Amino acid sequence: MTANASLFARLFSLEGKAVLITGASGGIGSAFAVAYAEAGAVVGVHGRDQQRVEQTCAEVAAVGGKAVPLYADLGSVAECRGLIAEAHQKMGRLDILINNAATNRRKPIADVTEDDYEFITGIDTRAIFFLSQAAHPLMKAQGGGKILHITSINIFFALDTVSVYGLSKGAVAQLTKVQAVEWAGDNIQVNCITPGFIRTPLSKPIWDDPKKASWLRNRIPLRRPAEPEELVGAALLLTTPGGNYITGQNIVVDGGFLAGGSWARDEE
Ligand SMILES: NC(=O)c1ccc[n+]([C@@H]2O[C@H](COP(=O)([O-])OP(=O)(O)OC[C@H]3O[C@@H](n4cnc5c(N)ncnc54)[C@H](O)[C@@H]3O)[C@@H](O)[C@H]2O)c1
Repeated sequence: MTANASLFARLFSLEGKAVLITGASGGIGSAFAVAYAEAGAVVGVHGRDQQRVEQTCAEVAAVGGKAVPLYADLGSVAECRGLIAEAHQKMGRLDILINNAATNRRKPIADVTEDDYEFITGIDTRAIFFLSQAAHPLMKAQGGGKILHITSINIFFALDTVSVYGLSKGAVAQLTKVQAVEWAGDNIQVNCITPGFIRTPLSKPIWDDPKKASWLRNRIPLRRPAEPEELVGAALLLTTPGGNYITGQNIVVDGGFLAGGSWARDEE
């Protein structure tokens, strides 16, 4: 970006930058991949399923962007470290890390096994910790960077059967603040987005259940789930130079869910 580029371009263009998006073959991650490509970044498209990763890479290519396919099981810390190293090596740099991948197993607390606990926290918390740890020295050496985590409305509003997922996401929201404080001196800004209810494969079981879907529509002031692309605005704000002075923050994108409800409008 040249010094005489327009103010808007200096604030929001990602020309010459490289972003790694984990879980980029999923609902929200693939929307991010296309948007970041359109903003000018080279996009590291991480996933596990080759066909789905290639599909996202094709979507990036269709908007004239450059995608680098990357594979890793984030349940392994060694693979998390390997993913960061490979992304950096294949893209030539690493400016933005979006920790988007996550998993869930919905069960009442009484039925949660040690395996469930290790499995969910391993991906939803431990992977994020070690991916960020591995990205930090690379970003520091480049003079700065941005890290964005994706948490969940469950950190504020408890729902039964989502205990381990909720505590994992709560841990990430707290980690966001410590990373922001520790890495501020390295010009690395760390923030998170807390989505409400988004229409994706992860949330499909909720929207496919008429009782749950109706309960939600009655309680979301905007009366609908978000589409994945409706998270892009918050993500770009927190990872472009436009957000350089924002760090350690959480932006909630929930259609008004946490703001409150209406007595008059309950029941569809
Ligand atoms: N969909 C919603 O309503 C909603 C609400 C709140 C938060 N979120 C969060 O948004 C983010 C994206 O969710 P989504 O709805 O697009 O989900 P999704 O299931 O479509 O995508 C999640 C991605 O994570 C990847 N992943 C899971 N386990 C992995 C592992 N072990 N190794 C590598 N990759 C793995 C999956 O392959 C998938 O690509 C997640 O962090 C999720 O917790 C979603």
